[in-house]
Amino acid sequence: MKDHIRHLIQTALNTLSTEDQLPAELNANVQVENARDKTHGDFASNIALMLAKPAGMKPRDLAEKIMAALPQDAQISKVEIAGPGFLNFYQNHAALAQRLDAALNDDRLGVPVAEPSQRIVVDLSSPNLAKEMHVGHLRSTIIGDAVARTLEFLGHDVIRQNHVGDWGTQFGMLLAYLQENPEAQQTELADLENFYRAAKQRFDESPEFATHARELVVKLQAGDAECLRLWQSFNTVSLSHCQEVYDRLGVKLGMDDIRGESAYNNDLPEIIQALQQQDLLTLDQGAQCVFVDGFKNSEDQPLPLIVQKADGGYLYATTDLAAVRYRQQQLNADRVLYFVDQRQALHFQMVFTVAQQAGFASKDMQLEHMGFGTMNGPDGRPFKTRDGGTVKLIDLLNEAEQRAYNLVKEKNPELDESDLKQIAQAVGIGAVKYADLSKHRASDYSFNFEQMLSFEGNTAPYLLYAYTRVASVFRRAEQSMDAPIEGVIELASEPEQTLAASLARFTEVLNNLSDKGTPHILCTYLYELAGLFSSFYEQCPILSVEDKATRASRLRLAALTGRTLRTGLNLLGLQTLERM
Ligand code: ARG
Repeated sequence: MKDHIRHLIQTALNTLSTEDQLPAELNANVQVENARDKTHGDFASNIALMLAKPAGMKPRDLAEKIMAALPQDAQISKVEIAGPGFLNFYQNHAALAQRLDAALNDDRLGVPVAEPSQRIVVDLSSPNLAKEMHVGHLRSTIIGDAVARTLEFLGHDVIRQNHVGDWGTQFGMLLAYLQENPEAQQTELADLENFYRAAKQRFDESPEFATHARELVVKLQAGDAECLRLWQSFNTVSLSHCQEVYDRLGVKLGMDDIRGESAYNNDLPEIIQALQQQDLLTLDQGAQCVFVDGFKNSEDQPLPLIVQKADGGYLYATTDLAAVRYRQQQLNADRVLYFVDQRQALHFQMVFTVAQQAGFASKDMQLEHMGFGTMNGPDGRPFKTRDGGTVKLIDLLNEAEQRAYNLVKEKNPELDESDLKQIAQAVGIGAVKYADLSKHRASDYSFNFEQMLSFEGNTAPYLLYAYTRVASVFRRAEQSMDAPIEGVIELASEPEQTLAASLARFTEVLNNLSDKGTPHILCTYLYELAGLFSSFYEQCPILSVEDKATRASRLRLAALTGRTLRTGLNLLGLQTLERM
């Protein structure tokens, strides 16, 4: 609707300038907002205030002119000028109702398929296999998954890339430890954290071990069969740990989505060669560097992107350059989104700039770092176990489910055990995911079980419960919210109108999310929608109302609300429940 009004205003401006009533070169970014106070219309624009000065007119006079030039439109019932020169638009309720009726008859709830559909690579999760997955990768996994699902729903062709850290010097140490303790393959590897610690300890205490570890890295990189076998078996175990987390979380990630750092190993010499040929390399203290215009360190010295160490070894950045090239040349991506910790922002800025300079990325392939903040503990400090260790994700998810179980059991003691388990899973896992998704990804956030499991506020339990309330209306009506419902929507009262206006915004919200890669926009929207449904439900009886047409209209509104909530929650990666 906002786009639509923007378009109407643009048309009016064009008319005015062709009629010489406005200077033709006026070029405005037309802004339309949802009105705060619905008694002054549903949408407002400040266009007359913005253009008054360049047009040499008083804002209210210009507003008059624009209003007179606005094309007739069925969606708008009235336009008014308010205050210093705002244009207020009133939505036509009959037209709004018609749009919602159409959405109800559509499997996609009226959300159009994106035009053009893009090929979008989503780089997400990407843990380092040498260690257990940690909370930072939880954020990347959850946020990336929600954005990928939404892009897919909008009709884009999404390719997930799990850029796991499965290569590099630490593997020499792990392989040396495996060689020394073959039995560790069966036992200690069950706990990667302990395994890593044990290997690190050997590395630090024994110079022979350390030398051997370094030799093994070289052998591994040279393709030595025995090293590759050990490395492979190590990775298999580590990846199965990751897959266990993905399955528990219900994120859409599988073995096919893995394309780790090792996959680019053979491309790295070519990357250096290509940079060399384009005169982009500078030898600095033995290392091959690309100096990128505009990048400075804290002492204001030019900051290089190092692509090859003095000993010939390659770096994280070299692999990322190869990955950009692959995503361009092999995957034909229009857009690549990187869900990676905010602290890597500089790395990505430099990699993207070099990739473009070197032609690894074409100018029209969009490369976007979707950075996120740190996940802290409830005390606001970095997330650690009581004894300062890293929190294992599996333990965290177990605890979430256990707490949800206790909570639901307390609320609903008569539920049988298997229902309870199922509900606890949806609520517990949903709570962990939703707490993360509902904050702006760029900000740090504190992990807090009590808050995320509260039935009040913008939480998973609140929203899942709101959905079950809609579902219960349909249980009592003995019909399905997904089957056709006779009648049409009529927006007679205020609660019905505000609910309807919110329902009509679903498309805009999803498009916004897909542009910015920010799932919290959808969370805020669903939370608002649930609240509006609740007021509607209190003030507008559905099943008990006498008038047949009113009953049908309200039932249709409830069905569209239920389906919007369910679709939205599913896009966030949450599983809805019929009762809880
Ligand atoms: N493995 C890296 C880490 O744990 C994240 C990789 C992100 N993706 C990328 N293409 N660099 O920090």
